[in-house]
Amino acid sequence: MQHSNQKKAKTQKLSIDPIWDNIRNEATDASSKDPMISSFMYSTILGQKSLEDVLSLQLSKLLKTISIEDRVIKELFDEFYSTDSQIQQVIRADIAAVFDRDPACHRYLEPVIYFKGFHALQTHRLANWLWNNNRIEFAYYLQSVSSRIFSVDIHPAAKFGRGIFIDHATGIVIGETAEVNDNVSMLHDVTLGGTGKKSGDRHPKVKSGVLIGAGTKILGNINIGISSRIAAGSVVLQDVPDGTTVAGVPARVIAQNDRDYPSQHMEHMLPSDDSKNKS
Ligand SMILES: CC(C)(COP(=O)(O)OP(=O)(O)OC[C@H]1O[C@@H](n2cnc3c(N)ncnc32)[C@H](O)[C@@H]1OP(=O)(O)O)[C@@H](O)C(=O)NCCC(=O)NCCS
Repeated sequence: MQHSNQKKAKTQKLSIDPIWDNIRNEATDASSKDPMISSFMYSTILGQKSLEDVLSLQLSKLLKTISIEDRVIKELFDEFYSTDSQIQQVIRADIAAVFDRDPACHRYLEPVIYFKGFHALQTHRLANWLWNNNRIEFAYYLQSVSSRIFSVDIHPAAKFGRGIFIDHATGIVIGETAEVNDNVSMLHDVTLGGTGKKSGDRHPKVKSGVLIGAGTKILGNINIGISSRIAAGSVVLQDVPDGTTVAGVPARVIAQNDRDYPSQHMEHMLPSDDSKNKS
């Protein structure tokens, strides 16, 4: 958190849209340091009127294919961003999540123009909106392209809260009936899948503040409790109680966490020996 507080101290100022203001300042700064990047900064950020314009332009260029032009995808993003009453706050919560939790992220503009976990999540948000509005063909198109270009395969029906951080993102697979609540952080190669033994509602429900380590497989319609942590490489087949850490194949409880929301602190350390559950 010290890292995050230091970063915040550098960027705090009064504004109605501080994240967008910071992104513009960062783009100006980047342009002045390297003239070779200034036309890119101008076309992607400084020449745009809003953060939503930046995203719809950037993502539509990434998601175009030989069959569907970027202009068509941009229209969808623009429609989504002008229709959904919550999306502006959700986007900013997702950007803040990356800035606050990723020690390798030093500027707000980095997720917006460089990080594929953020790009895949914003693509899914559009796909989910289309899905919920019975426009399933475009939703499937976005899932398919996202899977190919970002290595992130999220079914359009999967539900996500806000303030989600997907670090590195390669190899993420999330099934149709999965739910990921607010302020969850996950690293790469995470599966929220079915066991293959059930149909219908068959995928995990991840509650708020959970930290999911790299390479974790969470299988079945199970609850991953609030503020729990899943150690890297675990295979989780049963409910995880609130505020615990589980590890292993199959996963078992190895500790009671000594603070809430490990996802926000990206706290990978085990608590002191006294609080470990050795049963
Ligand atoms: C292996 C599998 C098919 C279940 O088989 P099953 O014979 O019905 O197994 P059960 O759920 O009854 O569990 C039997 C034992 O194996 C263990 N087990 C089950 N799946 C396991 C796995 N993937 N890794 C390690 N142990 C596993 C269980 O913990 C249980 O152990 P226990 O008897 O000590 O309690 C299923 O768990 C699995 O892994 N399916 C693959 C699903 C997948 O890849 N999904 C991704 C979709 S995107």
